[in-house]
Amino acid sequence: MTEFLKDLWYFAATSAELKRGGMFRREILGEPVLMGRGADGRAFALRDICPHRAVPLSAGRQVETDGRVTVECPYHGWRFSGDGVCRLIPSLVEGQPYEADRIRVRSFPVHEAHGIVLIYFSADARFSGAPPPAPDFGLTFDTPGFVVDRVFEANIDNAVVGLMDPAHVPFVHSQWWWRPPSAGRKLKEKRFEPREKGWAMPRHPPPSNSLAYRWVFGPDVTTEIVFMLPGFRWEVVESGAKRFFTLTCLTPETAERTRITQVTYWSGAPWLALLKPVLIPAAREFLDQDGRMVDLQNTGLKYQPSMLWIDDIDVQAKWYLKLKREWAASRAEGRAFVNPLEPAVLKWMS
Ligand code: FES
Ligand SMILES: [Fe+2]
Repeated sequence: MTEFLKDLWYFAATSAELKRGGMFRREILGEPVLMGRGADGRAFALRDICPHRAVPLSAGRQVETDGRVTVECPYHGWRFSGDGVCRLIPSLVEGQPYEADRIRVRSFPVHEAHGIVLIYFSADARFSGAPPPAPDFGLTFDTPGFVVDRVFEANIDNAVVGLMDPAHVPFVHSQWWWRPPSAGRKLKEKRFEPREKGWAMPRHPPPSNSLAYRWVFGPDVTTEIVFMLPGFRWEVVESGAKRFFTLTCLTPETAERTRITQVTYWSGAPWLALLKPVLIPAAREFLDQDGRMVDLQNTGLKYQPSMLWIDDIDVQAKWYLKLKREWAASRAEGRAFVNPLEPAVLKWMS
């Protein structure tokens, strides 16, 4: 079974999904999580199990208690604030020895910026200190241009590995507008370098057989691709003042299911907004193509869980597992994470 990495920030929701005064249930790392936004506009995340008799708090409603935003459990009305503290037990009478505020439901630190909401998943379920800073993806945008997501029937490892696999592109994503079969396969020789909790393919001109980049951004376009644990990959396409940014976030829901959310931003190209009716279905189709391949892969993995990874196309997959092991080891040994990767040049035909 895939081990979930803890003491890390995970993508949980988009800002747009969290309506003021609203809340919903999402499964993250095998835990039910209530994602909510108070009437005060602040996002919060609670373990979605009432400590009293286990009813999901997300089935309740938000009410104000002593000037605070609280979630009221639908079963017996216990109320919890965003920090997880129980603020009210309505059934209590004078002389009963319970102090509501000594009862807590797990609350997850939340970081909201650039239209996305991350939650911090500590290994210690009782963690209540200040979390480490949220990852810096280098985002310079207020809100996404658009977002697409899909739940893959794959564990986080297979989802990550499938995402970064360079050799599937001409086979799985060979639509005419992206890279028609006539584009052929070309020798790719790419430089990689270690980055914070991951690695990068530093800024370089995009492959000559990726047509869409040149159509949209002109000849002087460059791209940079970065991966960071536990499951963030972003690609920045730049040309002059134009900046196009795709952030892909992978969040395990369970050991066998992973949510992929692709958040796309841009600046310096206002006309791209007009292309949304084309870009959104295109992005969705990309995710679906990968999702369908994952489903096919599952029909094989059911009989044989092992795979045969080859160089250089599966080197990034190996790096991912190496980083994962180092993260887990650094946690277990109570020391700082040391990126074990070295700069490298990888070659393949695609
Ligand atoms: S189960 Fe939530 S208040 Fe009783
Ligand atoms: Fe893909």
